[in-house]
Amino acid sequence: MKAIELIGVSKVYPQATGGRAALDDVSLAVEQGASLGLIGESGSGKTTIAKILLGLEPASGGEVVIAGHRIDGRPRGRRARIEHARRIQIVFQDPYLSLNPRLAVGDAIERTLRLHSVERSGARRRALELLAQVGLGEREADALPGMLSGGQRQRAAIARALAVGPRVLILDEAVAALDVSVQAQVLNLFNDLREAEGLSYLFITHNLAVVQYVTDDAVVLRQGRVVEHGPTRELLARPTSPYTVELLDSIPRGIPRRRHDPVVAPAAALTESTSS
Ligand SMILES: Nc1ncnc2c1ncn2[C@@H]1O[C@H](COP(=O)(O)OP(=O)(O)OP(=O)(O)O)[C@@H](O)[C@H]1O
Ligand SMILES: [Mg+2]
Repeated sequence: MKAIELIGVSKVYPQATGGRAALDDVSLAVEQGASLGLIGESGSGKTTIAKILLGLEPASGGEVVIAGHRIDGRPRGRRARIEHARRIQIVFQDPYLSLNPRLAVGDAIERTLRLHSVERSGARRRALELLAQVGLGEREADALPGMLSGGQRQRAAIARALAVGPRVLILDEAVAALDVSVQAQVLNLFNDLREAEGLSYLFITHNLAVVQYVTDDAVVLRQGRVVEHGPTRELLARPTSPYTVELLDSIPRGIPRRRHDPVVAPAAALTESTSS
């Protein structure tokens, strides 16, 4: 079964100027346990795809399926929303969007765990475990989001998303604000979770090093249309669309390495294990 499937999806926002579609006949799929990169210039429709998958926006046309369930706008009813949350979670570039500013990070994660039926007595321990996975400790667990650094807050948002135990995780520029070493730790965590739990990913990012490190396939989006789709390695090495060539030339490549390549500086940070 596919984790995510979009078939001929279009989206026109009601308030859109000039009636231009934000998405036009977009089809893509992510297999269970696979990882897809979504690349494209600002305004190309990447976040719109994420919002449709989350049920935050209805598609204007086409079909959206997550783990066999058809998605059409916001799930109706509390139970349907909780079930949908377990299918798919997102971490946005701005972690303020996913963290309650008045709740200590550890408490927020405990709440999420309890909502998704972890016993009260086990919730604190599990929350600390999740925070430890993203490199945060008890001090951060007791802090309000506003008391943390941007990178710490982002990691807290990732831990909270993982607390739900989702099958699919969307990362919308979610590691962009982290230092390279923390980014490496978090990316390794994603790769580990993929292997251990069969989690599937949609990685929205401008960072080609990230795309190369954590995705199997990639899609290039331009003005709401898919202009290129294929195995990440090939797409980056031999892009076929002139737009992709232009895009690849315009983005700093960062640390262009594959997951299983031998370690050389400066990519050493990307290969540190999180499971030690
Ligand atoms: N709520 C909205 N109402 C009207 N138009 C919108 C809305 N949200 C997005 N758009 C428009 O839809 C298009 C796609 O936006 P989207 O946010 O999906 O782009 P993106 O690829 O995520 O860009 P970025 O890289 O800057 O985050 C843009 O033209 C944008 O202005
Ligand atoms: Mg966006």
